[in-house]
Amino acid sequence: MRKSVLSIMDYRRLGKSDLVVSSVGLGTWQWGSRRYWGYGKSYGKEDVVRIKDKAIELGINLFDTAELYGRGMSEELMGEIMPKENGIVVATKYWPFRLTSNSVFKSVEKSLHRLSLKTIDLYQVHWPNPTNSLRKLMRNMERLIRDGKIRYIGLSNFSVKGLEEAQSYLSFADIVSNQVPYSLISREPERNGLVEYCSRNRIAIIAWSPLEQGLLTGKYRPGMKSSGIRRLRPAFSQRNLRKLKPFMDTVGAVSVGHSKTPAQCALNWLLRRDNVIVIPGASSPKQVEENCGAVGWSMTDEDVQRLQRAYLSYRG
Ligand SMILES: NC(=O)c1ccc[n+]([C@@H]2O[C@H](COP(=O)([O-])OP(=O)(O)OC[C@H]3O[C@@H](n4cnc5c(N)ncnc54)[C@H](OP(=O)(O)O)[C@@H]3O)[C@@H](O)[C@H]2O)c1
Repeated sequence: MRKSVLSIMDYRRLGKSDLVVSSVGLGTWQWGSRRYWGYGKSYGKEDVVRIKDKAIELGINLFDTAELYGRGMSEELMGEIMPKENGIVVATKYWPFRLTSNSVFKSVEKSLHRLSLKTIDLYQVHWPNPTNSLRKLMRNMERLIRDGKIRYIGLSNFSVKGLEEAQSYLSFADIVSNQVPYSLISREPERNGLVEYCSRNRIAIIAWSPLEQGLLTGKYRPGMKSSGIRRLRPAFSQRNLRKLKPFMDTVGAVSVGHSKTPAQCALNWLLRRDNVIVIPGASSPKQVEENCGAVGWSMTDEDVQRLQRAYLSYRG
């Protein structure tokens, strides 16, 4: 694994796989999707290269993409700029809303081509598609492992029931991870039993939008507007920003107590569970650096309780 003198990164085994990944990975939905994120015309390859360089310098080795992101552009950029050496773990996702589960064979070839790889480390089913056969898809995924196209199977946005069903169709492989929305204010994986189930079955939880697309960094205060499509989301409405303020004040107070930032606090809270991995996206190298500061320290039980009380009153 690539080591960096500057790195304080820590690493976790991804479920039952032999992949060892940085507990802070990098989400790359932002790569090639400047319209969604509102990053303007000048945002391009050079910015992405600087973000990637900073990530690698700080010990990040997990890079998450999807065939969907930027209609393949994120994978393409990754293929172009990522060093091809041991230790970098590329996770991508198959978009399953197609005619049949056999479309996965074509999709994987296209992803491999764009990523400029011979094998994909972690191939995830982006969402459950109840209209296609999951049994067939899982069988096809195992065939991809046998053919050397992918190393491990991951899921994304699956419930406990969906995970169990998917696993039951596999004859030799394990589901090694499930990627779900999980953050200080998105607690569904705790409520629906996923966190407990995954911990018991050694399945990694990869937390997506762990910073709530920037909300949990504390920079979006009432009166401020976000950029791109985000500004249309109810979460970024002025009403929610006002409602969130007391909660963010508590996150701020907890982070100051450890000389950390709200973003670092939000990610550290997720990383308390040893099978959780976070993949924050970033619009600058500075953000990558800040997000890596989520590791190497622990919040106290008292901090956790304080955040819990603030969360409950935010939820109402
Ligand atoms: N499986 C799925 O269905 C699914 C769905 C969504 C995402 N994902 C994956 O999860 C990754 C992360 O989720 P996400 O990108 O939606 O949300 P996120 O990681 O919660 O937020 C990323 C955004 O927050 C802002 N930010 C990040 N670090 C910051 C910092 N330290 N200080 C201030 N602002 C900061 C940046 O936007 P600004 O600078 O513009 O504010 C950045 O683009 C994605 O890139 C993707 O790989 C997967």
